Amino acid sequence: MTAAPAPVHRRRVAVLISGGGSNMAALIAAGQPMDAAYEVVLVLSNRPDAGGLARARAAGVEAIAVDHRPFGKDREGHERAIQAELEHRGVEVVALAGYMRLLTPWLVRKWQGRMLNIHPSLLPLYPGLDTHARALAAGDTEAGCTVHLVTEGVDEGPILGQARVPVQAEDTVETLAARVLGAEHDLYPAVLSDFCRTLS
Ligand code: GRF
Repeated sequence: MTAAPAPVHRRRVAVLISGGGSNMAALIAAGQPMDAAYEVVLVLSNRPDAGGLARARAAGVEAIAVDHRPFGKDREGHERAIQAELEHRGVEVVALAGYMRLLTPWLVRKWQGRMLNIHPSLLPLYPGLDTHARALAAGDTEAGCTVHLVTEGVDEGPILGQARVPVQAEDTVETLAARVLGAEHDLYPAVLSDFCRTLS
């Protein structure tokens, strides 16, 4: 008789969003098989009206809002409330996916080496906002996206993976953004899976 294979421990991942959550949806889907490297156990938005919340619930994932507005300028207070939700659910890895708040060093240090972000450019090119407009203005012939570890500098952490797409002559910000977003949906689950497999 052969022994049954040991069950895979799917790493408990929380996805932080502020908007529609198309990357979030891709991350949830890739984490659903029982032999996946991770499982999305929580989706958390700083905006109660984020479309991604309903989308997560429809996929069977707990989704909550921790509204930043009642905290005013107390950014760390907001993050302490987020941290309590993460700890309560035994979250092991945090994936930022269109989370539109700058993090304080307090939360970044809590998750050092265990927090990932996706950015719609080929970092170190174009950190920050308006990446596609900047790529088009520069006349770049290729664009892409980057998954990186989150550090205190904005979009500066160690790069875990990148995907490239061509820029076409007739591209607008919208058409380029759509092409990059499609690449994001493949890249982020693949990088997160690899990352979770290597965690000790
Ligand atoms: C993506 O372009 C991602 O790279 C950036 O924010 C956008 C989020 O889109 N950080 P979505 O909410 O995942 O559709």
